Amino acid sequence: TEHTKTTMLIFGGTGDLTHRKLIPALYQLEINGFLPKDFSVISIGRRDKTSDEYRSEILESTKKFSSRNFEEESYEEFSKKVSYFKLKFEDAEDYKELKNLLEQSGKDENKENSYLFYLAVSPDYFSEIVHQLENSGIRTMDSAWQRLVIEKPFGQDLSSAEKLNASISEVFEEKDIYRIDHYVAKEMIQNTHMLRFQNAIFESIWNRHHINNVQITVLEKEGVGTRGGYYDHTGALRDMVQNHLLQLLAVTAMEPPKSLDADDVRNEKVKVFEKLVPFQPDTLNEQLILGQYSGYKKEDKVSASSQTETLVATKVYIDNERWQGVPFYLLTGKALKNKTAQITIEFKKSTLYGEEKDSEPNILEIKIQPDEGITLHLNVKKPGVVDQMAMVEMDYCQSCLYLFNSPDSYEKLILDALHGDSTLFTRWDELQLTWKYVDAIFSTLGEDRTSYLESYERESNGPESLDTFIHSGARKWWYRNRE
Ligand code: BG6
Repeated sequence: TEHTKTTMLIFGGTGDLTHRKLIPALYQLEINGFLPKDFSVISIGRRDKTSDEYRSEILESTKKFSSRNFEEESYEEFSKKVSYFKLKFEDAEDYKELKNLLEQSGKDENKENSYLFYLAVSPDYFSEIVHQLENSGIRTMDSAWQRLVIEKPFGQDLSSAEKLNASISEVFEEKDIYRIDHYVAKEMIQNTHMLRFQNAIFESIWNRHHINNVQITVLEKEGVGTRGGYYDHTGALRDMVQNHLLQLLAVTAMEPPKSLDADDVRNEKVKVFEKLVPFQPDTLNEQLILGQYSGYKKEDKVSASSQTETLVATKVYIDNERWQGVPFYLLTGKALKNKTAQITIEFKKSTLYGEEKDSEPNILEIKIQPDEGITLHLNVKKPGVVDQMAMVEMDYCQSCLYLFNSPDSYEKLILDALHGDSTLFTRWDELQLTWKYVDAIFSTLGEDRTSYLESYERESNGPESLDTFIHSGARKWWYRNRE
């Protein structure tokens, strides 16, 4: 409203995420009229530079990384709202200066101030920054609200996540902590909610009586690139499965929420996580494949004897009325043939027109990227005097219908954080349960993983054992149909 002033403070203002995602997202929100009226961004970094220098740096990245239209003129207007502030994350004096700045700029107009603190920094600084905000008195400044947005990774395992959470919770209440999982905000995942709960035809068949298996595949073409230092201590289970893939599983499997309120939605996701069948040590080989692409050990900042997995396939069961006995196959990996992500639902087969082995099941594909859309595969009769079956596709191609690209997930996430809507952010109990699940896998594997880790070629489909793995419960990896 007229009487409020909103300031977003980005810690890590010179970092990669800010350049690639946050500033371009803010620019799009601005030109589409979504930002609050009196809004400014303070980008915080350790390096010395003037706001003008900073603005010209982000001009380059906004041009390069904007998901949609870019115009110099509107960028000029937008960039006036952005300034740069030099601060060392561990220097208490710098925070006092930051506080002075905030007080100065908040004072003149007699407006109510709101602050969004966005931590786009290495997790080593999460706790430090949050406590400096407290100790400097910034947290207790007069304000309508103060919220904390925090990037992943949130811990390395359950116990480090608990420590981090305990530390942050000394300063911010759970309701004001916005933990990012950018997959949940991808356009087609938001669409999955609507597809399931706004279409009676799906809700009645969305269960073990009609669904044979679910396949959640998030594949990347790129290797680790410059992120070897981070990735080698992390691996695909922590980097992708604990958060993004289990979140997609929860969105697919959850019961209809009581309402669309943040807590009602997240309560239902938590119920799914509570019912994940714990990983069984004695059937490890049937439940898990770990791969490492050839050449990974030679990547920059990667150990020459690394046992880090760059690919994971795992089979997860949910022990509730809806899903008992239905395998959810999760597959994610780097340095594969294509970058593609989708959720595939394989329905059970019908047999009236022939043996089960001859018939094809119905398949529903929710395509997340690069194409966005929904495809339903149906069996129909081929025209002619003999009964012959053909599989056809009913296709909703979102990326064809809307000629602009979908907004980037960061646009949605920033906007929701500004509005105080935490539906798409991860609540602490979701993190607890997903870490618990992944921790159990690590303790089953033990220290020496040589016997589990399979090598695969770059730009391939991953290790060959993936084929036998999927044949144990499903027809095939359906995503490969698109190749
Ligand atoms: C990040 C992971 O969370 O997601 C990266 O840390 C991964 O390793 C990335 O590459 C994939 O995201 P997207 O949106 O490019 O599919």
